[in-house]
Amino acid sequence: MFSLTKLLGLSAVLPALASAAMFDVQVGGANGSLTFEPEAVYAAVGDQVTFHFNPKNHTVSQSSFASPCALKEGGFDSGFEPVTDDLAESERPTYTITVNDTNPIWVYCRQKSPANHCGKGMIFAVNCPAEGANSFTNFKQAALDFGAALEAGASATSAAAATATWTAAFNASVTLPPAVAPSVVTETVTVEASTWTTTYSSYYGSPKATPVSLEGVVHKVIVGANNSLVFDPPFVAASPRDTIMFEFQSKNHSVVQSSFDNPCSKLAKDDVSGFSSGFMPVSNDTTEFPTWNITVNDTAPIWVYCSQKTPADHCAMGMVMAINSDESSQRDFAAFQALAKQTNGTTAASTSDTTTSDTDENGAPVMRLGGVATTVALLMGVAALAL
Ligand SMILES: *[C@@H]1O[C@H](CO)[C@@H](O)[C@H](O)[C@H]1NC(C)=O
Ligand SMILES: *[C@@H]1O[C@H](CO)[C@@H](O)[C@H](O)[C@H]1NC(C)=O
Ligand SMILES: *[C@@H]1O[C@H](CO)[C@@H](O)[C@H](O)[C@H]1NC(C)=O
Ligand SMILES: *[C@@H]1O[C@H](CO)[C@@H](O)[C@H](O)[C@H]1NC(C)=O
Ligand SMILES: *[C@@H]1O[C@H](CO)[C@@H](O)[C@H](O)[C@H]1NC(C)=O
Ligand SMILES: *[C@@H]1O[C@H](CO)[C@@H](O)[C@H](O)[C@H]1NC(C)=O
Ligand SMILES: *[C@@H]1O[C@H](CO)[C@@H](O)[C@H](O)[C@H]1NC(C)=O
Ligand SMILES: *[C@@H]1O[C@H](CO)[C@@H](O)[C@H](O)[C@H]1NC(C)=O
Ligand SMILES: *[C@@H]1O[C@H](CO)[C@@H](O)[C@H](O)[C@H]1NC(C)=O
Ligand SMILES: *[C@@H]1O[C@H](CO)[C@@H](O)[C@H](O)[C@H]1NC(C)=O
Repeated sequence: MFSLTKLLGLSAVLPALASAAMFDVQVGGANGSLTFEPEAVYAAVGDQVTFHFNPKNHTVSQSSFASPCALKEGGFDSGFEPVTDDLAESERPTYTITVNDTNPIWVYCRQKSPANHCGKGMIFAVNCPAEGANSFTNFKQAALDFGAALEAGASATSAAAATATWTAAFNASVTLPPAVAPSVVTETVTVEASTWTTTYSSYYGSPKATPVSLEGVVHKVIVGANNSLVFDPPFVAASPRDTIMFEFQSKNHSVVQSSFDNPCSKLAKDDVSGFSSGFMPVSNDTTEFPTWNITVNDTAPIWVYCSQKTPADHCAMGMVMAINSDESSQRDFAAFQALAKQTNGTTAASTSDTTTSDTDENGAPVMRLGGVATTVALLMGVAALAL
């Protein structure tokens, strides 16, 4: 069975393992049940998971948390492995994956005939969060909800839509999953000779809240390199205590914090007001570039834009950056930048940088484009992400 206690180690600091481990997973129960056994394993980088195919005709296919019963784009897939009842165990096929990082890996059987195996709960995970929005329990529930809607007579597309709570954001043909709510984690951290207890908001896909050193690391981000409207690099992964040093190399830029849903407006939500460097004009002949620093306090994604609107709206031209964006999710830097470009300068209409994001009756963000609130329809093939 899926063991919570084993998985709780997930948020703790991982010691480097000396040698790779091997996990064995049965695909299909001995009695013909539609199961992976065990349902979840926790593996270190370099470990391997070998799937053993039992009778019936299963696959081991990679999906995503948001779409448990659909092949992830570019994901691995064993293909169908039909096994007859009389095939000796030693002759049954196997499929092995290597764990390359500590991100969760979501797996399903894509057999649809005669029943949809995934919709019957035939799913598996490596390194899934033990709790929170992206837990194994929620992943399995999403698969079962999908299966139940299918059985109730819905088409696969509408079954996926019926269980989906996605709302959307930019580009009429693209919807994005809602932001994953952070889970509050209390952890004892040991760095160098110091040990302390910290409580922080842990985000799915975000790095660990363990500083790399007591002083942290300095990440240099060039603002307006080569006289162009870019942050270089466009996104960085940083740990708490790290410093992001913005170095202004041209023109008259700024570094202002926004939100994913409202990329070109200064963050002003509840009591939180985003940071802002103010404008940093740089003359053409200087070699002494001004810098402006922020300290990273936790692993939450931080979204940033340049608020210069003269002569062009820099943000709408894509001059944005991200810190600790979850690059394995659809809310990655590229989506954020696409959303910024989609504003097409419409935020210029606001009198200040303090516009807050509108929300619809479900609390989902609504993009205002040219004064028209648009909540884009649900994307096909997207299964539940219950929050
Ligand atoms: C079939 O096997 C699975 C695990 O392999 C087990 O969970 C389930 O209870 C078994 N069902 C029956 C009817 O024996
Ligand atoms: C296995 O399942 C796939 C998909 O349903 C089907 O195309 C294939 O013919 C099956 N193979 C056997 C040997 O039943
Ligand atoms: C690990 O990396 C290898 C080589 O790039 C790739 O073939 C394999 O699919 C990756 N494993 C997973 C689980 O993505
Ligand atoms: C919207 O997204 C689709 C699918 O990713 C893409 O082909 C299209 O170019 C996008 N349109 C805009 C305006 O970004
Ligand atoms: C700036 O120009 C240099 C040399 O042409 C190039 O190597 C570098 O990648 C450019 N940087 C950006 C952010 O375009
Ligand atoms: C920099 O840009 C701001 C906003 O457009 C403007 O108010 C300010 O005068 C500019 N500074 C310089 C030195 O051009
Ligand atoms: C600085 O460079 C920009 C772009 O090359 C140019 O438009 C501007 O006139 C220059 N300003 C001065 C004072 O040389
Ligand atoms: C930003 O941090 C760097 C590295 O610690 C430091 O050299 C620089 O002076 C800082 N800039 C400001 C404006 O404090
Ligand atoms: C980190 O915390 C400090 C002190 O509370 C605050 O000034 C700073 O703005 C925070 N950094 C970020 C990126 O929010
Ligand atoms: C952006 O605005 C300009 C001018 O208002 C318009 O010509 C252009 O079509 C718009 N682009 C998009 C993608 O909406």
